[in-house]
Amino acid sequence: MGCMSLPEGYRIVVVPDERRDEFLAADQLTWAQGLEPEALTEAPPALEWGVRTVGVEKDDQLVAVHGSYSFAAPVPGGTVPCSGLTWVGVRPDHRRRGLLSAMIDAHFERSLQRGEPVSALFAAEAAIYGRFGYGCAADELGVEVPRGAALRPVAGSDELTVRFDTADRTRHADLVDAVHRAAGGGRPGWMTRDSAQQRANQVADPPTWRHGGEPLRIATVHAPDGSPRGYALVRRKEKWGDAGPEYAVTLRELVAVDAAAAHRLWSFVLDLDLTKSVAASHLAVDDPLTHLLVDRRAAVPKLGDNVWVRLLDLATALQVRRYAAPVDVTLEVTDTRLPANAGRWRLATTAASGDGWVAQVTRTDAPADLALDVRELGAAYLGGRSIGAQARAGLVRELRPGAAAAATAAFGWPLAPVCSWVF
Ligand SMILES: CC(C)(COP(=O)(O)OP(=O)(O)OC[C@H]1O[C@@H](n2cnc3c(N)ncnc32)[C@H](O)[C@@H]1OP(=O)(O)O)[C@@H](O)C(=O)NCCC(=O)NCCS
Repeated sequence: MGCMSLPEGYRIVVVPDERRDEFLAADQLTWAQGLEPEALTEAPPALEWGVRTVGVEKDDQLVAVHGSYSFAAPVPGGTVPCSGLTWVGVRPDHRRRGLLSAMIDAHFERSLQRGEPVSALFAAEAAIYGRFGYGCAADELGVEVPRGAALRPVAGSDELTVRFDTADRTRHADLVDAVHRAAGGGRPGWMTRDSAQQRANQVADPPTWRHGGEPLRIATVHAPDGSPRGYALVRRKEKWGDAGPEYAVTLRELVAVDAAAAHRLWSFVLDLDLTKSVAASHLAVDDPLTHLLVDRRAAVPKLGDNVWVRLLDLATALQVRRYAAPVDVTLEVTDTRLPANAGRWRLATTAASGDGWVAQVTRTDAPADLALDVRELGAAYLGGRSIGAQARAGLVRELRPGAAAAATAAFGWPLAPVCSWVF
């Protein structure tokens, strides 16, 4: 594998299974997590060694690594093959000399060769990935809800029952996966766990992940016929204050297939004895909780960045998704890293299908209506960041009056994008 941007003496290599320990050692030098062997045994990385694990080598030693997951990523009106970038690390003693940049080039090239027109990631630090053409495509909410916070009533919630138990891979991995898939319901960005290892890891609980809390518990919600309708992966941490117990509850994930199940689950976790508050993260900005809380201020919502998206093959990516309204716009796109995407594209809807408007994306010489970087298109891709808002922020240039509003209506989507777990 050749890579123009690598400094002298370094080379990109695919990392085979036999070098797994070396890959993990390089990663641990950057991530400082002190992963115990036991944690790696109980929750091994869900990576496809030798296929989707790549590193940079110097003097036969791995000094930088990354991997990718293969997702069928939900996008507005469908799914797209997506290369989920993960396990990115450059050893502290080899950083800031272009190794990440070289790995990104390799990642783009290999993803495109596999027929993945889109890449997505969670960013460890928000300033890293914009330069590579990734746009923050989904916002997420974090909340810390006080115990006993009141919720508006939802019909059907009382008919559901809750079971509370210690999370167990054998008994719960399938339930979690089935409910998670059903709950996605076409929400853009809602990656499912498509490998057995990813599914197992979601309910794994090596002691080093507990940080002084209890073993992972699971609350499951069931319909009268016993079928599961939702789950919450929960950890409580003991704490005593002057006035009594102040346990903190942390949710790894709370997922429900409908409003009644969401209401039942939240009612349950907000009413756990000995506790003070419940912290949840990775909620969609339109999550039912934001509507059900009588006093949303008390939950102190925090806005964060969720999934970042990079269009690798712009025309294919834009044609795979559906549009919420008819549109005909010419986009002048800049893309320094993948010049095949640069230039002028006409995006025109042709017909409405059940899932939204189908668009064709073709090269054109016509005057542009909107000028923008591929990063801003990535941000708009899942329907979560509006073209118009990005234009008002000075990131998209509107060259034909009305074009930004038309593109905003078309790129928008009824469900806010979010991914419920960090990959
Ligand atoms: C983030 C990390 C992968 C960067 O690797 P690197 O090899 O030093 O990156 P590069 O040398 O290729 O940097 C490319 C550019 O990005 C910039 N950059 C890199 N990391 C950055 C950061 N954390 N914040 C802001 N800018 C950053 C560099 O300054 C450089 O800019 P320039 O082209 O203008 O000079 C590395 O520092 C690391 O492993 N950090 C800890 C783990 C981590 O955060 N991983 C990311 C997982 S999502």
